[in-house]
Amino acid sequence: MKVGDHYYRSIWLGEDGWSVEIIDQTRLPHEFATHRLTSQEQAAEAIVSMRVRGAPLIGATAAYGLCLALRQDSSDHAMEQAVSSLMSTRPTAVNLRWALQRMTSGLSSLNGNERLNKAYEIARSICDEDAALNEAIGAHGLSLLKEAAGRKKTGEPLNILTHCNAGWLATVDWGTALAPIYKAHDLGIPLHVWVDETRPRNQGASLTAWELAGHGVPHSVIVDNAGGHLMQSGQVDLCITGTDRTAANGDVCNKIGTYLKALAAHDNGIPFYVALPSPTIDWQLQEGVGQVPIEERDPKEVSHLSGLDQEGRLCEVKLLPEGSRAANYAFDVTPARYVTALITEAGICDASRQGLQGLFRQQAV
Ligand code: MRU
Repeated sequence: MKVGDHYYRSIWLGEDGWSVEIIDQTRLPHEFATHRLTSQEQAAEAIVSMRVRGAPLIGATAAYGLCLALRQDSSDHAMEQAVSSLMSTRPTAVNLRWALQRMTSGLSSLNGNERLNKAYEIARSICDEDAALNEAIGAHGLSLLKEAAGRKKTGEPLNILTHCNAGWLATVDWGTALAPIYKAHDLGIPLHVWVDETRPRNQGASLTAWELAGHGVPHSVIVDNAGGHLMQSGQVDLCITGTDRTAANGDVCNKIGTYLKALAAHDNGIPFYVALPSPTIDWQLQEGVGQVPIEERDPKEVSHLSGLDQEGRLCEVKLLPEGSRAANYAFDVTPARYVTALITEAGICDASRQGLQGLFRQQAV
């Protein structure tokens, strides 16, 4: 997508042809900065510190992280160590495992330079495919948005609520939940997006809002607690979120707070869609509730906030009183029964085993 006049993906190869460039998402929205990765350790650090985040982008970064490791040492032992270290960077998004398994299965029979060249080839394909899958999600989701817009009075905007950031920054390009929104906006369908700020990391306030502003999409950032009221008062037509891991039965794990929005949407008869590329489906997981590893992050993300002070300097403030502890669960699982439909690259389906199997017969186990 474009940043100013320049077209960017969220990850790309440097001019030297081997180092990896990312957008440092920890500096957004106040500063747009790119960051160069030259080693597997730096790639792992970028994932852990959330310079890159979002399930598909985590997978793509791990794939390139393995390429960087193989540049140093392409032996079987080094490859195993690099895979295990990259695999441990974040526990919830299944795209990480998917990408590393795809890399190793394509590389295990090769050695030396052949292995290294093939690694870059597979990592490039993972990135190109992710962009294409998300664009296809956008096209399928667009049909839902067109239908919903057709039910509005002429000129009235379609009000869409989203949670976290499932835009192009969370993927290689386009995004998952935001891809249909970009396509609808580009077609001139009047719409407005309610952006959940998404405490504690504020991916909504800092990343989704930045993306939508950059693309000229009308939006308002709301506190995470506002969605229920907006739904009850008729100000939300539909919700779309992304997911970090979808179980084979259609249960959806996503950023903490997604479940509460799905409950509120259900109570108010508002469609709740989840957009995902197929590498986000964990076919080995028969159901999601109680089964997906839920990341617990540093409590400091809850107890502190960062932003610009009055002089425009980035600063951090503490919110909690001395002696209060914080707990920081990063994801929750929304049972499939609260999900109206899944929007995938292969089409739209019920959030159910049958629905997913119908679209992905070959991958389903
Ligand atoms: O912790 P993050 O920022 O990596 O989590 C990302 C999400 O949960 C997003 O909501 C997203 O939908 C999943 S990736 C498209």
